[in-house]
Amino acid sequence: MKFFVDTANINEIKEANELGILDGVTTNPSLVAKEGVDFHERIAEIAKLVPGSVSAEVISLDAEGMIEEGKTLAAISENITVKVPMTVDGLKAVKAFAELGIKTNVTLIFSVPQALLAARAGATYVSPFLGRLDDIGHDGLQLISDIADIFSTHGLPTQIIAASVRHPVHVSEAAKRGAHIATIPLNVIKQLTGHPLTDKGIEKFLADWNKENVEK
Ligand code: E4P
Repeated sequence: MKFFVDTANINEIKEANELGILDGVTTNPSLVAKEGVDFHERIAEIAKLVPGSVSAEVISLDAEGMIEEGKTLAAISENITVKVPMTVDGLKAVKAFAELGIKTNVTLIFSVPQALLAARAGATYVSPFLGRLDDIGHDGLQLISDIADIFSTHGLPTQIIAASVRHPVHVSEAAKRGAHIATIPLNVIKQLTGHPLTDKGIEKFLADWNKENVEK
């Protein structure tokens, strides 16, 4: 499973990139709005920094508007993936983008039929939102398993991005259940690096080393 970072913050992207594990970036309108910067400039900046897929979301709700916006975004850099909401118009736009050779990430996926439709329309990626499903008492991880099984049964090439990731168990379970990618906030990526026994182990190694080499 690959790792994307879920942020529009340049410092966070740089920090994730330095870890050597970063395969791409996802943004959404809320994440970009938080930064208070020009949307297109920020997307260009991110696309230059990270060679992998950079998802930039359209704001229009009609297919025509989405296609126009998506073309402008795709022209920024060849690693831009146009993020499109899962709606009837979104599907029409995904079909048009597929014909133009523009990659798409269909976002706000909360059910198997939504994922299936997006894949059939030609989506490069689908983004099921784990955390937001868990928030309303549903099982976000079960959705990942179901989509992965169905895509595999029907030979669909669309990749699954586990999104709305809130904690390390989401990450390990998404990998086990067949997500191709997890898009993760930087704070959760940092949580993934740690284990209390790792800290304890380092402490013990250093204490033993110092006993032999420093105290003698
Ligand atoms: C990524 O593509 C999504 O926009 C993001 O993971 C949503 O996460 P949230 O539910 O924490 O806002």
